[in-house]
Amino acid sequence: MQKMLRNLRQSVDYIHAVTDIQPQVALILGSGLGALVRDIKNPVKISYENIPHFPMATVEGHAGELVLGSLCNKRIVTMSGRFHFYEGHSLADITYPVRVMKLLGAASVIVTNAAGAINRTFKVGDLMLISDHINNIKQDPLRGEHVDDLGPRFVDMTYPYDRDLLALAERVGRREGIHIQKGVYLASPGPSYETPAEIRGYAMIGADAAGMSTIPEVIVARQMSMRVLGISCMTNMAAGILEKSLSHAEVIETTRRVKGDFIRFIKAILKEMKV
Ligand code: HPA
Repeated sequence: MQKMLRNLRQSVDYIHAVTDIQPQVALILGSGLGALVRDIKNPVKISYENIPHFPMATVEGHAGELVLGSLCNKRIVTMSGRFHFYEGHSLADITYPVRVMKLLGAASVIVTNAAGAINRTFKVGDLMLISDHINNIKQDPLRGEHVDDLGPRFVDMTYPYDRDLLALAERVGRREGIHIQKGVYLASPGPSYETPAEIRGYAMIGADAAGMSTIPEVIVARQMSMRVLGISCMTNMAAGILEKSLSHAEVIETTRRVKGDFIRFIKAILKEMKV
């Protein structure tokens, strides 16, 4: 048996020994939405370091936990602490938890992130449903040995973001009075932000927002036939759109300001999702 498959089986076996919860939906949340994790009913928390073969978190003393439980009448699994390419992880490591969450039973995944708005009609604080993406990380998590049991070698990316979930999110957003945009998300390796010239270029090739995450997870989720919903929070206007510098402080400040609406939106979507 190929090594990745054997590793995944061992990860899943370990989790099954801790809990028999079979999640329906996986949540991969951008930082700042940790409050959502606190709303999970009867949470079962499993440290990444205890799960065989799981990648290890590197960020600010944050150990990282997989949390399983109920939220809005759905059985969910979420990562408290996620992995970014800019931290030095391989794309295979970043996406390993997606494979585990699917093998635990999650048929859908909601993935969120912070991004800079390239589209000049967007405003700081807007939430953007991701309709398509541009992989400017320029690596593919599926590169390397192929494991047939995990999905096709050549993955169709014509509809990476589930059209029914997009329609559902639009409807829920309207009903909840949340100002929703829709557009194309572009991810670069980071951690430096883009230059104004890069942003002008990305606008020309059709990007509406720029970030540093999400796309590897989405590629793997699609290989495994998961339904994907992606939502970006426009934490700032991208470099050069306004005559000012970017700062991580602005990203944090916007995340903080918007998180109430963002969490309400995710919960309302979860409630109405068919699983
Ligand atoms: N660029 C890339 N990633 C980001 C940005 C940005 O402007 N804002 C938040 N994450």
